Amino acid sequence: MKDTIDSYVTADGRTIGGVMMEMKNITLRFGGVVAIKDISFDIREGEIRAIIGPNGAGKSSMLNVISGFYHPQEGEVWFRGERRPTMKPHNVARQGIARTFQNIALFNGMSVLDNVMTGRLTQMKTGIIAQSLWYGRAQKEEFQNREIVEKIIDFLEIQHIRKTPVGRLPYGLKKRVELARALAAEPKLLLLDEPMAGMNVEEKEDMSRFILDANDEFGTTIALIEHDMGVVMDLSDRVVVMDYGKKIGDGTPEEVRNNQAVIDAYLGVAHD
Ligand SMILES: Nc1ncnc2c1ncn2[C@@H]1O[C@H](COP(=O)(O)OP(=O)(O)OP(=O)(O)O)[C@@H](O)[C@H]1O
Ligand SMILES: [Mg+2]
Repeated sequence: MKDTIDSYVTADGRTIGGVMMEMKNITLRFGGVVAIKDISFDIREGEIRAIIGPNGAGKSSMLNVISGFYHPQEGEVWFRGERRPTMKPHNVARQGIARTFQNIALFNGMSVLDNVMTGRLTQMKTGIIAQSLWYGRAQKEEFQNREIVEKIIDFLEIQHIRKTPVGRLPYGLKKRVELARALAAEPKLLLLDEPMAGMNVEEKEDMSRFILDANDEFGTTIALIEHDMGVVMDLSDRVVVMDYGKKIGDGTPEEVRNNQAVIDAYLGVAHD
């Protein structure tokens, strides 16, 4: 494996390992719009890595490159020591990457339980035909899937709404169900696009706790986009700062908070 740096232990006792994901000189264009300009950074095993920046900075585009949904015109994406080829979304799921979206993407007519179950779909080994031919194995798989889903539902404290259609839930709980669905895939790397957007203070505190607990208990590496700087400072081990498609900062929350380019970007200071 290349570029493996020694692991270290954080102040709160979590172990951060070597490089899991490496983005090298990524450039992404949409026609004439350059959404990402020559950005490099890495994500380490066990880390909570935040991506921040003003609106339109290219954060969601970057998450889509990490997830394999967008293919950059330039640069390389390395995951666990292997260069990623052009990859279909279902192959990304098999690689152990799950995500939530900036705009909630759940099945409103379906119950919480069924929505969370859809998070298991990519993990199922038995195909539809095999399921009918080889009933025993499919049944065992179904049983295991239910067990994992129930564990996640307990973990996120949504037992009381497991039968409720998602469309009837308040916004904060919908966000939590989306997190449940992503965790149900038992991802190695979890990508969260503004998991706390539009939440009140109490909901944000709950969500922060669930993100930290998922990282701690399941060892899930997390990359998240978040606008609330207080949340970013509390949650993340390291922060990448983007502005107009460029990387303008990268380091610990403390380092980026004191970085002049970052301060300027947030204050809206003009630049070339
Ligand atoms: N599918 C697309 N087609 C064309 N342009 C796009 C597409 N997706 C993003 N862009 C453009 O790329 C730039 C970066 O957008 P992106 O959504 O990644 O920003 P962001 O940092 O997530 O912003 P926000 O904080 O508002 O969510 C913007 O100029 C946007 O208009
Ligand atoms: Mg976005």
